[in-house]
Amino acid sequence: MQIKIAVLPGDGIGPEVMRAALKTLKHVAEKFQTETQFSENLIGGASFEEFGTPLTEETLKACLEADAVLLGAVGGYEWENLPHHLKPEAALLRLRKELALFTNIRPAKVYNAFIDSSSLKAEVLKGTDFVVFRELTGGIYFGEPRGYDANQGWNTMIYQRYEVERIARRAFEIARQRKKRVTSVDKANVLEVSQFWREVVADVHKAFPDVELTNMYVDNAAMQIVRDPGQFDVIVTSNMFGDILSDIAGMITGSLGMLPSASLGEKHALYEPVHGSAPDIAGQNKANPIAMIASVAMMFAYSFQMTRAAELIERAIEKTLELGYRTADIYQAGNKLVSTDEMTEQIIYNFDVLYHEE
Ligand code: NAD
Ligand code: IPM
Ligand code: MN
Repeated sequence: MQIKIAVLPGDGIGPEVMRAALKTLKHVAEKFQTETQFSENLIGGASFEEFGTPLTEETLKACLEADAVLLGAVGGYEWENLPHHLKPEAALLRLRKELALFTNIRPAKVYNAFIDSSSLKAEVLKGTDFVVFRELTGGIYFGEPRGYDANQGWNTMIYQRYEVERIARRAFEIARQRKKRVTSVDKANVLEVSQFWREVVADVHKAFPDVELTNMYVDNAAMQIVRDPGQFDVIVTSNMFGDILSDIAGMITGSLGMLPSASLGEKHALYEPVHGSAPDIAGQNKANPIAMIASVAMMFAYSFQMTRAAELIERAIEKTLELGYRTADIYQAGNKLVSTDEMTEQIIYNFDVLYHEE
């Protein structure tokens, strides 16, 4: 098999975690006799500096032609005051839209090796394993009209029926293969668009009577994720609520540096960590590469049906944590403090150990 991957390292720690991910990816592909073909392009601030735009047509074309896209992160202090359409983040949003990546999957799972180093209590975390289905190409992120002038600023939160239907359907389908529970999160007590969302989700639910559906307000959901995360199986929600809830869920795993994601449409797929470019630690070889490496595992599973490769990467991450290796963001006294590169080497080493054990 041959797989064609578009690589977009981006800004800040993006290139560092991408280097880690590519090293792992190449190693795993070789073990599984999979030929790889890569194209690498600038995106975000890096692209703005070189070409005066955060996303060139060439980069977009490379993504459209690839079997899967890997993205590090975009953004940084130096580009914060650019006009909206030139900001690094605008590149990511346009890419999601152009590739029609309407389903963003963000799993939040507790690593046992790790349960004592989270900021939440071990007994609260035990057994937590849920996944956020975030709508990614609609809602307030893309709604028109939008803008601001000297006296006011405005955005529009709008959803079309088909947009809610297709993400809800995917959430119910996945729930069927899991614990058969979907929580739809909205703000229907205040927003009409949320009332609409709730009614459409209920309509879609009719085809999935074996799955339990609960509705929850977003403010309560934020609290419940911290109070009792074990109650959730699949959370389905709109673009902005999903953005916020998935960062909260990041703390379930102990650090944002642990949380991978997959963005899927009908034709295209993009894999990226949930975290951003972390400019505060960029260039120091101390970023946690696990979110990016776990995103590669999701790529093998979702884009190439290479489930064994994906499982082995996940188990290698777990084993490396069990052996006490920690980057600075998850370090506690008694652990072995390692750099981005050392963490990556350990994960690859443990991948080989597990691969040969089988
Ligand atoms: P951030 O996720 O970059 O960082 C938040 C905190 O988490 C920081 O203290 C950072 O050091 C830490 N952190 C994040 N990833 C880490 C990792 N892998 N290892 C260790 N620590 C890690 O969020 P922010 O500071 O709000 O945003 C910084 C920039 O990133 C902004 O320009 C923002 O727009 C952008 N951003 C991009 C993406 C993306 O590309 N998908 C996502 C979120 C934020
Ligand atoms: C994310 C990020 C992005 C978002 C930004 C950088 C546009 O926070 O991927 O979670 O809000 O979707
Ligand atoms: Mn976010």
